[in-house]
Amino acid sequence: MKILVTGGAGFIGSHTVDALLARGDEVVCVDNFNDYYSPERKHKNLAGARTSPRFRLHEIDIRDLDAMAQVFAKEKPDKVIHLAAMAGVRNSVQFPLLYEEVNVRGTLHLLELATKHGVDNFVLASTSSVYGASKEIPFREEEDAVRPLAPYPATKRACELLAHVYHNLYGLRCAALRLFTVYGPRGRPDMTPYMFTEALSQGREITLFDEGRPQRDFTYIDDIVEGILAAADANLEYEIINLGNSRPVVMREFVGVIEDLLQRQASIVSPPLPATDPPVTYADISKASRLLGYNPTTTVGEGMREFVAWYKQEAG
Ligand SMILES: NC(=O)c1ccc[n+]([C@@H]2O[C@H](COP(=O)([O-])OP(=O)(O)OC[C@H]3O[C@@H](n4cnc5c(N)ncnc54)[C@H](O)[C@@H]3O)[C@@H](O)[C@H]2O)c1
Repeated sequence: MKILVTGGAGFIGSHTVDALLARGDEVVCVDNFNDYYSPERKHKNLAGARTSPRFRLHEIDIRDLDAMAQVFAKEKPDKVIHLAAMAGVRNSVQFPLLYEEVNVRGTLHLLELATKHGVDNFVLASTSSVYGASKEIPFREEEDAVRPLAPYPATKRACELLAHVYHNLYGLRCAALRLFTVYGPRGRPDMTPYMFTEALSQGREITLFDEGRPQRDFTYIDDIVEGILAAADANLEYEIINLGNSRPVVMREFVGVIEDLLQRQASIVSPPLPATDPPVTYADISKASRLLGYNPTTTVGEGMREFVAWYKQEAG
């Protein structure tokens, strides 16, 4: 099977690429190595993949329709796993136009080309943030999800809707996966597991909103990758599916896990929760379990141990 992975140099993308190569697939990776965070780190993420004869890299931007068309024409992928995006909720408040361009226009390019080239299945990375501050907890896929709190989730919801259009009009098979706070080795430096680990390691104070009361459904990268591969294999018609851990953690307790691992005590400042952030994220994963056999097993204690070990070796 030949699979096109967009955003394949990023955190989730590079783990997905590695897992696909490990099971014998051919992988075509598209990434523009933007500087939202260190491009060197993204190159490092692909160090293992580059040694495989079944791996090819195209350093291009998904906003460049002609370049993307050439990739499809040359590579003729069987399936697409579309992970390239501008991620980061708060950054999207500063750069809404960039988020619209990359996430909405870029995804439209992929949907157009996937349809034109008759790909079997299109897996789209969406986000738990589309649920906004929903009071229906745990979050279920049937919810309207029409009250996003920031540009980023609004663009991701638009991607889900556009994918449905391509399914309806052209029969494109699509699974839109709503990912819940993914963490683990190669994790993004703008996310709390990384930011808190770095601040504690360097003896700096951490910003813990609302006295650490908010809860997040942290989901370990290996569990997420299993879900992504299962969705790529399943060839569902059109489904929106939560991929979370379904065990939300109170943020103050999450900091406690890092304090224990680093044997350091956090110095905390605690402003109110920003308007971009919901108080709770909590995935109902019964649909993922039913359709994909998804069964996340990694606890936050286990996953953060892996993350901190990676951080000390690679990033710290
Ligand atoms: N990490 C999470 O907790 C999380 C949660 C929900 C959803 N997601 C989604 O999962 C996907 C992967 O997220 P991640 O955490 O690995 O982020 P990431 O930033 O590490 O990976 C995204 C990759 O896409 C690439 N990219 C960005 N714009 C591009 C463009 N215009 N053309 C080509 N490549 C481009 C980046 O260089 C990067 O390598 C994203 O779609 C994100 O929105 C992530």
